[in-house]
Amino acid sequence: MSIPWDRLLAERAARIRPSLLVDFDRLPASDDLILFSGGAPPLECLPTDRIAEALAETWRAEPEALWYGESQGYEPLRAAIAERMRRRGVAVEPKDVIITNGSQQGIDLIARLLLEPGDRVVVEAPTYFGALQVFEPFDARISTVPVDECGMVIEALERELASAPRPKLIYTVPTFQNPTAVTLDPERRTALVALAERYGVPIVEDDPYGELWFDRPPPPPLRALHPDVLYLGTFSKTLAPGLRVGWLVAPRRLMKLLVDAKEGADIQADRLLQRALTRVLEGDWFERHLEAARANYRERCTLLLRCLERELAGLAAWTAPGGGFFVWVTLPEGVDTDALLVECARHGVAYIPGSAFYPDRTPRPSFRLGFTTLSPAELEEGMARLGRAIRAAVRPSLA
Ligand SMILES: Cc1ncc(COP(=O)(O)O)c(C=O)c1O
Repeated sequence: MSIPWDRLLAERAARIRPSLLVDFDRLPASDDLILFSGGAPPLECLPTDRIAEALAETWRAEPEALWYGESQGYEPLRAAIAERMRRRGVAVEPKDVIITNGSQQGIDLIARLLLEPGDRVVVEAPTYFGALQVFEPFDARISTVPVDECGMVIEALERELASAPRPKLIYTVPTFQNPTAVTLDPERRTALVALAERYGVPIVEDDPYGELWFDRPPPPPLRALHPDVLYLGTFSKTLAPGLRVGWLVAPRRLMKLLVDAKEGADIQADRLLQRALTRVLEGDWFERHLEAARANYRERCTLLLRCLERELAGLAAWTAPGGGFFVWVTLPEGVDTDALLVECARHGVAYIPGSAFYPDRTPRPSFRLGFTTLSPAELEEGMARLGRAIRAAVRPSLA
């Protein structure tokens, strides 16, 4: 039997954005490519002992966790999350929280619930690649709003909200944004929430990095300003991405629908892990872990910025993160960082080109550097290679 797969594929299949990792496979082969593409805690900082210990305790105490149950998530874990969010200024109760398979699933559940084909979704430009991977197969029409050093440009957002047809969602990463590291300032937070309310368009606030600040905490989440904000959190960046545990704080009107949608998607989150994570969040271990992580990432970021100054001063501009995992670098207008990536890979270094973060995927002069997964020595060496590659490729073309 031969199945005519090409004819059978849903139209939606053609709209699924290919993984960024596939693109990396196409780069010139190199034994020691230094990848600035990472957006995760470094392997050596994963709290494997604490998680193993909590899993073992859970296993001994609650083997029934291997059963089905609780699609909304384990109540004590939801309570611990609600308590942490209250400390960040957000009034949340355990019943407002649903545990998801990472925040990525939260984006997907929201899209399932709210998007019809052709609906408009407003995102920042640039925006998180994975959100586009969710919205595009739903046949959403993506509208973009530029980002400057204070976050989303509110006047541009208002133009989008006022234009017909009215958007269905505003998706934003307002704190230490992926990919730019920019944080929406407090006045714009107020203005954004007021606009969303005036036009009746819900905000999806994706906040994986808010607890990973360097010198001072960012402003409270948008969800602190309005109970209709759909808030997404995750332990992927603060603990480990392989856990696949995130959460969604949702308006009460939507909770039952979201829980039913979660059940339809994957029944429930891993119950053993949820119980183990609840143990991990007890006491002050997690807070001390976060403090160590912040200091570690601050140090790596400072080093990266110093290397950027040394390698690319006068040739590029870059953001100065107050937290998070990334620096966004912009080369002169006209430089194509998709093409430049191939040159960089020949020099033994790679980044994620700006085009990945825009709905239209056209080449841009910008790229994203992730600094958390590389050691200081790798950061130094990687930046030296990047500097050589960019100076060789960009200077002559500008002359
Ligand atoms: C803005 C943003 N949202 C969501 C995710 C996915 O997180 P999770 O592992 O919790 O699904 C990431 C990971 O890079 C991210 O940067």
